[in-house]
Amino acid sequence: MIVVTGATGTVGSEVVSGLRARGEKVRALVRAGSAVPDAWDAGVEPVAADFTDPASLDRALAGADAVYLLVAVHPEMDAHERNVIDAAVRTGRRPHLVLHAAAGVGEHREGVRFLAAHTVGLGHLGASGLPWTVLAPNGFFQNFLGMAAALRAGRLSLPGGTGAVSYVDTRDVAEAAVAVLTGTGHENAVYTLTGPAALTHARIADVLGEVVGHPVTYQALDPEAALAGMLAAGWEPWRAEGMAELYGLYAAGGAAAVTSDVEKLTGHPARPFAAFATEHAAVLRGAAQS
Ligand SMILES: NC(=O)c1ccc[n+]([C@@H]2O[C@H](COP(=O)([O-])OP(=O)(O)OC[C@H]3O[C@@H](n4cnc5c(N)ncnc54)[C@H](OP(=O)(O)O)[C@@H]3O)[C@@H](O)[C@H]2O)c1
Repeated sequence: MIVVTGATGTVGSEVVSGLRARGEKVRALVRAGSAVPDAWDAGVEPVAADFTDPASLDRALAGADAVYLLVAVHPEMDAHERNVIDAAVRTGRRPHLVLHAAAGVGEHREGVRFLAAHTVGLGHLGASGLPWTVLAPNGFFQNFLGMAAALRAGRLSLPGGTGAVSYVDTRDVAEAAVAVLTGTGHENAVYTLTGPAALTHARIADVLGEVVGHPVTYQALDPEAALAGMLAAGWEPWRAEGMAELYGLYAAGGAAAVTSDVEKLTGHPARPFAAFATEHAAVLRGAAQS
């Protein structure tokens, strides 16, 4: 039995579907008060648990053969990862722990708090004695689905400078996760999951413009101004500062590496951004929900 955390989110929901398509029995963590997705069939056992509640994690992980550990971006995300790893150890069954981290994890990127948090999780995992694998995806294509309003105004305004980023489709991330959770030979491996190319945000704006049917211009925001804008829009400071750090990494070219790990794990090349954008044209135009 495979336990999936973050199961109601962008990646986790795809991991649950992918595991069910292979006939795997899945136990899916659902926070109290969160809705159980309609798509789940009887082969998915929803279990109420919270990353902050070790007793609930003990109940959720009991009997697990493998655990997909995906935590949400949160000021305590490193503690959340540690709590799930500790619960996996307490099962006494040495389940295969597959940690969903982010590209650059473990590379001493202390200046980017999201990466630093996953690096703490990776260190804890290494010391846990559990068999482990890390999936480290780059930024998601799906992040652009929330930008329809700006695209309608013909703008892609981000503090990404001129750096290229090898963004990846979350469906490829989920397929890679399913391959690792159901396969063998992945112990102690860190897979960096990227798209097939590194694209500058100016190039991304061109592609999005073609898809939405009018020109979209990339505006490279000054990092300080971008942070002030996020705070003024009501973003929680911890998250806004983290986003500014991440885009600083992008601007410096620190997220441009392209790997073949998606193809290695899924057996097909990583989906290209243009195909993703075409497929999601209605959402990007603001004409449909994602
Ligand atoms: N976005 C990117 O470009 C990117 C790139 C690389 C790596 N990542 C990493 O990907 C992860 C986020 O993945 P995602 O976008 O799929 O996440 P997401 O859509 O935000 O979903 C987060 C999931 O975590 C659950 N959750 C939140 N707090 C919880 C708690 N206290 N206890 C139990 N469950 C809780 C949520 O449940 P509810 O339904 O109850 O809220 C949801 O299922 C992060 O670790 C991030 O660092 C993101």
